[in-house]
Amino acid sequence: MQTVRLGRTGLEVSVAGLGCGGHSRLGLAKGKDIHHAADLVRAALDLGVTFIDTARAYGTEEAVGLGLRGRRDEAVISTKAGAGRGGELVTPKQMAGYVDESLAKLATDHIDVFLLHGLTPAQFPYANDVLMPELRRAQAAGKIRFIGASEQFGVDTGHALLGQALAADPFDVVMVGFNLLNPSARRRVFPKTQEKDVGTLIMFAVREALSHPDELKKVVGELIARGEVDAAKVDADDPLGFLAAAPGAPSVVEAAYRFCRHEPGAQVILTGTGDAEHLAANVAAILKPPLPAEVLEWLEAIFGKVDSVSGN
Ligand SMILES: NC(=O)c1ccc[n+]([C@@H]2O[C@H](COP(=O)([O-])OP(=O)(O)OC[C@H]3O[C@@H](n4cnc5c(N)ncnc54)[C@H](OP(=O)(O)O)[C@@H]3O)[C@@H](O)[C@H]2O)c1
Repeated sequence: MQTVRLGRTGLEVSVAGLGCGGHSRLGLAKGKDIHHAADLVRAALDLGVTFIDTARAYGTEEAVGLGLRGRRDEAVISTKAGAGRGGELVTPKQMAGYVDESLAKLATDHIDVFLLHGLTPAQFPYANDVLMPELRRAQAAGKIRFIGASEQFGVDTGHALLGQALAADPFDVVMVGFNLLNPSARRRVFPKTQEKDVGTLIMFAVREALSHPDELKKVVGELIARGEVDAAKVDADDPLGFLAAAPGAPSVVEAAYRFCRHEPGAQVILTGTGDAEHLAANVAAILKPPLPAEVLEWLEAIFGKVDSVSGN
């Protein structure tokens, strides 16, 4: 396994991380049970994965705790809780309770990275002024080691939250939406995380658009209609068909993970799945060399300026 130092946390972790949320939630979203989910956690460890991301909202914390039973010291865990929904904000006392609940569900005495989940630009001042002091108390008590935040990439496709957060710089780790359809973090996020030595966790490498050809066509069609992608540069019926001509002919999913893995500033590439075969293939993809230069040039020419989609 290749490892990376997670920014100023100093934690040395695998470049491939297991994402326990997304559309699969370790299979729980597709009718699988907690034992299937825990088996996937153990399978990830056996593949050399040492970073596992979950959240109270995913319903997978117990599965992570079960999968790590007897193997807790093999993994760095991140979990998350939101700062509120709509106009309703979480109080510091509630947040302290969320930390304790996550510790119990994960069956651990410490969370390595605790993230404010899907933080919005509007929530940031409250999170920074009111919730951070509470999280720092939990940190001083040894319940959490490092504090960070994830952006709401599904709507914040241009990284407004991270622009704000990285300027104020309270977080040791940030979770960033980045993929070959919307590489805008390359200019807007990674230069700042690298300058400030903030750890980065990459989400949305594949999602729906890069794992379902019909969804890809739909998203690219929308980008062409909005003028963000030049119709003359892409085959609207098979937008990534040119991969077939590249050496080794990477599949779209493989290309999507390799694209993220070798981006300067991208540290841990999360892969979310409920399928053990997908997990093994995705970890292998993340460990492969960079995509050929001509493929990267095509992708830059087609999608280089896109900042309006997440790939959902
Ligand atoms: N705001 C936030 O904080 C936030 C938001 C989103 C995600 N996240 C985190 O980021 C992690 C990664 O995001 P994600 O789960 O959406 O992961 P992802 O790796 O971008 O995409 C996963 C999707 O692709 C499919 N897939 C994976 N491997 C495949 C393969 N080899 N062939 C075909 N389809 C494949 C999965 O379905 P199968 O189950 O069939 O493999 C799943 O639907 C999440 O798990 C979560 O931990 C955080």
